[in-house]
Amino acid sequence: MATMGRVRRSPLLAAWLALGFAWHCALHHAPAAAVTLSTASRWVVDEAGDRVKLACVNWPSHLEPMLAEGLGKRPVGAIAGDVAAMGFNCVRLTWPTFLVTNASYSSLTVEQSFQRLNLTESLAGIRANNPAVVDLKLIDAFKAVVSSLGENNVMVILDNHVSKPGWCCDNSDGNGFFGDGYFEPDVWVDGLTKMATMFAGVPHVVGMSLRNELRGPRQNSNDWYNKHC
Ligand SMILES: *[C@@H]1O[C@H](CO)[C@@H](O)[C@H](O)[C@H]1NC(C)=O
Ligand SMILES: *[C@@H]1O[C@H](CO)[C@@H](O)[C@H](O)[C@H]1NC(C)=O
Repeated sequence: MATMGRVRRSPLLAAWLALGFAWHCALHHAPAAAVTLSTASRWVVDEAGDRVKLACVNWPSHLEPMLAEGLGKRPVGAIAGDVAAMGFNCVRLTWPTFLVTNASYSSLTVEQSFQRLNLTESLAGIRANNPAVVDLKLIDAFKAVVSSLGENNVMVILDNHVSKPGWCCDNSDGNGFFGDGYFEPDVWVDGLTKMATMFAGVPHVVGMSLRNELRGPRQNSNDWYNKHC
């Protein structure tokens, strides 16, 4: 493992990591030859028991086009290489639930997704910089980004950011809390399950964060305890 930057510790980060890794471990009973992270007391450790410090940078892939940002500007491998060169050993790669649960999104190729939004200039940039992803289904383009990060020895944490693709976060965007317009708990679990299954055998995918920034008026004890549990 390369030298790793220092991770700012906060209770929130710790909780987020714990949640992510708990989920990872719960779903990975017998991974084939996967590098597995675990905890030893307060530390995250690798299989040899050596401490692993995650230095993650966020890479958004949850916006309307559902493709990792920047692929219209530079080849995916160049971006992944720069992430590693800057000293990060991990990417928090965001994804929207509907990418894998909602046919009106999951059926699209990269080209169709950008055409649907009239993002012609970006699409031309993708054609120039990443021709191999243009005709892929969105989820296969997502996998190509994950693979490229792996080739550059960058670990990946899959981050369920929103349900409906788009900029996050607003209290009334329908993605904030269980029961909101686009945040159906069963669909959310289905999406997490699909992603966990899909990436279970990918060694450098080391965890999942279950949901970004729960928020909004449903975040109250009456709804939470009386209606949803
Ligand atoms: C699928 O996406 C559409 C458009 O965003 C949304 O209106 C619909 O509720 C989604 N369906 C499910 C089952 O999530
Ligand atoms: C894309 O352009 C077409 C034709 O000008 C227009 O009808 C459509 O509303 C546009 N879609 C978006 C998402 O802007």
